[in-house]
Amino acid sequence: MPEIDDYLLEKKKLIDQALLECLPPAGASKVGDAMRYSIAAGGKRLRPILCLAAASVLGSPEMEILDVACSLELVHTYSLIHDDLPAMDDSDLRRGIASCHVAFGEAIAVLAGDGLLTLAFEKVARYGIKNNRAEQAALIAIEIAQAAGLNGMIGGQELDLTAEGKTLSLPEIERIAALKTGALITASIMSGAIAAGAGKHELATLNSFAASIGKAFQIVDDLLDQKGTAAELGKPVDADQQRAKATLPALIGAEAAQDRADLLYQEALSKLDTINSDTGLLSELAYRLVYRNK
Ligand code: IPE
Ligand code: IPE
Ligand code: MG
Ligand code: MG
Ligand code: MG
Repeated sequence: MPEIDDYLLEKKKLIDQALLECLPPAGASKVGDAMRYSIAAGGKRLRPILCLAAASVLGSPEMEILDVACSLELVHTYSLIHDDLPAMDDSDLRRGIASCHVAFGEAIAVLAGDGLLTLAFEKVARYGIKNNRAEQAALIAIEIAQAAGLNGMIGGQELDLTAEGKTLSLPEIERIAALKTGALITASIMSGAIAAGAGKHELATLNSFAASIGKAFQIVDDLLDQKGTAAELGKPVDADQQRAKATLPALIGAEAAQDRADLLYQEALSKLDTINSDTGLLSELAYRLVYRNK
């Protein structure tokens, strides 16, 4: 097995464990159980892994930012719970099991999402206190809040919903991908870099690397919705066509959308060249993000 697969497995284990430890104990409340249910369902944990990887590439100990890495997964999992609600994508399967609202009801699922989002920012603050890094914690909180907020993921989710049934242009579709998905992926890498004390040039470079990978990630999600299987993806397939989502494969076809993802991947890699550390880990992760089958 290639080394990067070992790395992904090892970090996923580390993150899974840390996530379960920061959640309320089982049986304490319905909302707490729903939070636990959606986190324990798994997922690739790519956002926290990107955070750890960015920090380690820049020479910072990853254990120090485990709380921040977890916060990114908490925000992501909240976004999936809400994304699946009947008022949004109305999807009843997530991470191979019944979506949160199917298992717990809509009201509890809304609150579970809220609970995860709130906990995320507690974790960022705890990172600052534990490691005596108040300034980095504040900068990271801003980064994640902006990425998850109205000018990031929330804005992207609004555009995604209002675009249903419409024909958008290619730049409009890529803007949705950049906001709803790219922003949090970018914040994942940026928060690791901020924790590692990255300079201006490194931050700007990693930002544009992550933005390209983030857009490609959503294009591949849209492609997998067309060509993947529910068993492998753990979520329904063909859901985008059923909801008439404005996606790149729907607009230009699967082959051209794959070409676009390839180009974004190449663009992302070329940006890493100007960073003065060994960025091999980030380029291998980028490959795994773009060339994936689930
Ligand atoms: C799915 O994200 C939703 C998107 C933003 C495209 P992932 O593909 O990372 O889902 P999990 O976390 O592995 O379940
Ligand atoms: C989700 O995009 C983006 C989020 C911010 C959650 P999708 O709606 O395509 O994600 P899936 O396919 O349901 O995982
Ligand atoms: Mg959606
Ligand atoms: Mg969805
Ligand atoms: Mg999708």
